[in-house]
Amino acid sequence: MERTFIAVKPDGVQRGLCGEIIKRFEQRGFRLVAAKFMQASEDHMKNHYLDLKDMPFYGGLCKYMSSGPVLAMVWEGQSIVKLVRMMLGETNPADSKPGSIRGDLCINIGRNIIHGSDTLENAKKEVDLWFKAEEFVAYTPCGQPWLYE
Ligand SMILES: Nc1ncnc2c1ncn2[C@@H]1O[C@H](COP(=O)(O)OP(=O)(O)OP(=O)(O)O)[C@@H](O)[C@H]1O
Ligand SMILES: [Mg+2]
Repeated sequence: MERTFIAVKPDGVQRGLCGEIIKRFEQRGFRLVAAKFMQASEDHMKNHYLDLKDMPFYGGLCKYMSSGPVLAMVWEGQSIVKLVRMMLGETNPADSKPGSIRGDLCINIGRNIIHGSDTLENAKKEVDLWFKAEEFVAYTPCGQPWLYE
């Protein structure tokens, strides 16, 4: 089983899309293992997006991401990192296919409503950056034998 870090960004929260986004991951069969509603500091977002520090949009991105509440979550499932990235669509919503989260729910690259880790290695880093061990809840979901052979 893999884990990935997913966050509904401030625009997704303000637009009332948390429920729709959670629904898609639940319906796919993924398991929610940690969640918190919080406003991240600009420094936290600078750390989160450190790989992009040389990009011209880095400053604005970190300001936007810390401008309001985000719904930070860890989800678990087989091949989840790759599958979630497919469910998100492309970074630019204008290039995202209908049926994907960004292709259905947003328009602009700077307001693309959701973050998902792009590799297993980054997923591990991001989960550790956002969550402490005691914030995870262990449980066995009843549907497990019907999702995995
Ligand atoms: N050319 C750009 N102009 C403005 N904002 C951009 C641009 N490219 C990326 N961004 C913003 O920076 C975020 C991080 O970029 P990244 O390349 O990591 O894309 P991503 O992995 O699809 O998005 P995220 O990491 O937020 O899930 C994007 O989601 C977007 O909000
Ligand atoms: Mg990214």
